[in-house]
Amino acid sequence: MVRIAGSPIAGLVAFSAATNLGVAGRAFALPVEDPRVSAIVRGFGGRAEEDAAVGLSREGFTLLGAEAPGPGADDRIDWARRWMPASAAAAARLDARVGGLRIGISMVLEPKTAVLALLLAEAGAEVAAFAFAAETDDAVADALRGRGIAVHASATATPAEERAAALALLDGRPRLLVDDGAHVIRLAHRERPDVVAGLIGATEETTSGVTPLRAMAADGELRIPVVAANDAVTKTWFDNRHGTGETCVLAIARALDDDLSRSRVAVVGFGPVGEGVAERLRVLGADVVVVDLDPRRALAARFAGYATAPVLTAVRDADLVVSATGVPSTIDGTVLAACRDDAVIAVAGGAPEEVLPAPGTQVERLAPHVERLRLPGGRSVRLLAGGDCVNIVAGEGNPIDVMDLSFAVQLASIRLLLEQRLPPGVHRLPEEQDRAVAGLAIGGGEGRASSPAGLVDWRRTRFDLGR
Ligand SMILES: NC(=O)c1ccc[n+]([C@@H]2O[C@H](COP(=O)([O-])OP(=O)(O)OC[C@H]3O[C@@H](n4cnc5c(N)ncnc54)[C@H](O)[C@@H]3O)[C@@H](O)[C@H]2O)c1
Repeated sequence: MVRIAGSPIAGLVAFSAATNLGVAGRAFALPVEDPRVSAIVRGFGGRAEEDAAVGLSREGFTLLGAEAPGPGADDRIDWARRWMPASAAAAARLDARVGGLRIGISMVLEPKTAVLALLLAEAGAEVAAFAFAAETDDAVADALRGRGIAVHASATATPAEERAAALALLDGRPRLLVDDGAHVIRLAHRERPDVVAGLIGATEETTSGVTPLRAMAADGELRIPVVAANDAVTKTWFDNRHGTGETCVLAIARALDDDLSRSRVAVVGFGPVGEGVAERLRVLGADVVVVDLDPRRALAARFAGYATAPVLTAVRDADLVVSATGVPSTIDGTVLAACRDDAVIAVAGGAPEEVLPAPGTQVERLAPHVERLRLPGGRSVRLLAGGDCVNIVAGEGNPIDVMDLSFAVQLASIRLLLEQRLPPGVHRLPEEQDRAVAGLAIGGGEGRASSPAGLVDWRRTRFDLGR
């Protein structure tokens, strides 16, 4: 184990923790004399530019023309807003139909979500928010209440209180739901059919929400149109892969105070999230083995240069096991029993009970985000963030600039629901609108929002040339 202070990732960790800005896609002024720092930043998707606004070294970071936000919730909300231009532009495209519309948001309650709620409120909507206790920042909840948003959430809520808070959100009779994990959409179908009847539709933020909604649609049980914001290219390619990969790995490093350079790691699940996590771990110097039940994804991992193995083999020598499946019970009692003593378990996916220890496991708190699980067989492992998403519970969640894209997709999805009355089912954001979101983010006139297919006569072949 190598501690973070003084290691090549020290400045990067400090930058991410203090600013919640992303490394991927950002320009940095990097120290030429420290190639290890440069290699890690490049491996995380950053690029070197001499006069970049952010300077990074293993001693720390510097920001030109900006000061990292203060600790107050209002400061953090205003800071996040400053880095969310695509969401602001997408909100500006909402028309009068959003005026007076009741919108319920169920999402991790932190500064970026607060910006989404405020953008919708400023566009004229009547916004209310709900969040689970582990995903609530009470100071942000209070700041939002102070800015006129109804918030049903508390960081200390019991499971019964969480449920009551979600029902209170529904009892406000929202016409649109913006969900993350489809928990509130499903609760509405079960407990508040009259509210479902009044819904124009919903949007869903993440893979683990889209999957059950597709199953409901296949069984004829989904009674509203849901736009799978998750499935937009501008969401999955950036949020799931880059944002989640980057922030999960940095949150794990921080929780363990380990630069992970000497770790042997098993990454379970090689979808976009697992891919991003594995990529960043490898850049830090970890030895990564990938597990995926889908042979296509296991093959993709091999072609990306990783060893692959069945889970019980992969975890045997791992110092760290990261679950990135979003599937309950991925790391069950059998998998835990196969782990080496004192191995660390972290979740990047985030389905309920993704880590499901066998009955009789004893839990002891070691540090704020670290618990020791004493397994029935006598061994023990360390669990990070209580088995919830490690970047959300033990970090600041996805970077602001990545959530800017995801929320621009959410806003485009809301616009779609208001403009076209879609039938019940799970819908994708049309490609043109997906491209338009990327156009908002890349700025500078790069790329085009319309498909090149419309500009070319595809009937022409080589035979027609030179006629
Ligand atoms: N923490 C965050 O901030 C964050 C952000 C985005 C997405 N997510 C969540 O991360 C999870 C993964 O997202 P994704 O888009 O990569 O999903 P995905 O469904 O595309 O990929 C998951 C992969 O896991 C594999 N898998 C499933 N069960 C497995 C098992 N038991 N063992 C081995 N492999 C298994 C699947 O074959 C698939 O390739 C989802 O729950 C998603 O909601 C978290």
